[in-house]
Amino acid sequence: MTNKYDTLRAIRWDNDQLYLLDQRKLPHDYEEIELNTATDVAWAIKEMVVRGAPAIGITAAYGVVLAARRAYSENPNTWKVFIETELNALMHSRPTAVNLSWALRRMRSVFNHIEGDPEPLLLQEAHNIHQEDIDANYAMGAAGAALLPINCSVLTHCNTGSLATGGYGTALGVIRSGYADGRVVQVFADETRPWFQGARLTAWELMQDKIPVTLLPDSAAATLMRQKKVQWVIVGADRITANGDVANKIGTYSVAVLARQHGVKFMVVAPSSTVDIQLTHGDDIPIEERPAIEVLTAVGQQVAPDHATVWNPSFDVTPAELIDVIVTERGVVEQPNMEKMLSLMGGHAPAAVSA
Ligand code: MRU
Repeated sequence: MTNKYDTLRAIRWDNDQLYLLDQRKLPHDYEEIELNTATDVAWAIKEMVVRGAPAIGITAAYGVVLAARRAYSENPNTWKVFIETELNALMHSRPTAVNLSWALRRMRSVFNHIEGDPEPLLLQEAHNIHQEDIDANYAMGAAGAALLPINCSVLTHCNTGSLATGGYGTALGVIRSGYADGRVVQVFADETRPWFQGARLTAWELMQDKIPVTLLPDSAAATLMRQKKVQWVIVGADRITANGDVANKIGTYSVAVLARQHGVKFMVVAPSSTVDIQLTHGDDIPIEERPAIEVLTAVGQQVAPDHATVWNPSFDVTPAELIDVIVTERGVVEQPNMEKMLSLMGGHAPAAVSA
């Protein structure tokens, strides 16, 4: 750990095994789960034992190590063929966070060239992905915090901290860095229905690091802004398209509309592994719909009538025009648009718009 406000890790590789902090149990129980197969890793991602776009990608990378270990021990000649089923399960565990396919692509580019035991090289690549994410978070923390005034209060949505990343966090990394240098004095956290990432994870995570946090119902954000209690909204992202549109936890779009209405600045913080320049527009992003039970119940208690019909989209898309700044480890993009995003990523426009 390199900062006194950075004390948590959700993903651990130790003694040749993968351990995940079970985020379904927080804040009441702090329990780690040991995972031995890629099939179990895909299950853990789907069930949200681990969640948050960068954390999903890192976990999947370690899942590839486990898949290769098993396939190689069963048949050293055919392991590359036999891991495909497990890679496929990992790939389809959750659809919105592009960090998942990004990490799997990186792992695949290593194993395509391996002769002999694949584990050492694949493990090294998984460790690289993990460490690079932490390094990116520190870089974004400094760059994002530098944009904030002294003594400001901020609103965040969902959980974007050490629990959602390799460590330190994206939006929470900016908040941690801002708190360390006196720019952020107060954090407001939306509870983030229906899974309560804000209540169960963000409030807990900030309290572990003794950063002042006030929890509010999602529906109180408008009044918070009207009463001028925050100057910035700072959130993460699951996928950013070439035009600067941002998919993030459901409710982010509402907060962005409210921020514009009330003159509050809106910052998105995400590593370049979250940017998908293959997609032109936010409408192209696959949006996960999660089970009805998440809406029908709260903290294990049923809150709706039996058999009520439910719509539970897990993410929404905030259009680029509502975003003041996107912070990545490659640089800061103000008033994002396609030209600026492509220049940041060193890429060309997707085929549909390049003509
Ligand atoms: O469903 P979740 O908890 O995986 O959703 C997480 C978010 O939407 C985060 O804001 C996003 O992944 C960025 S995390 C650094």
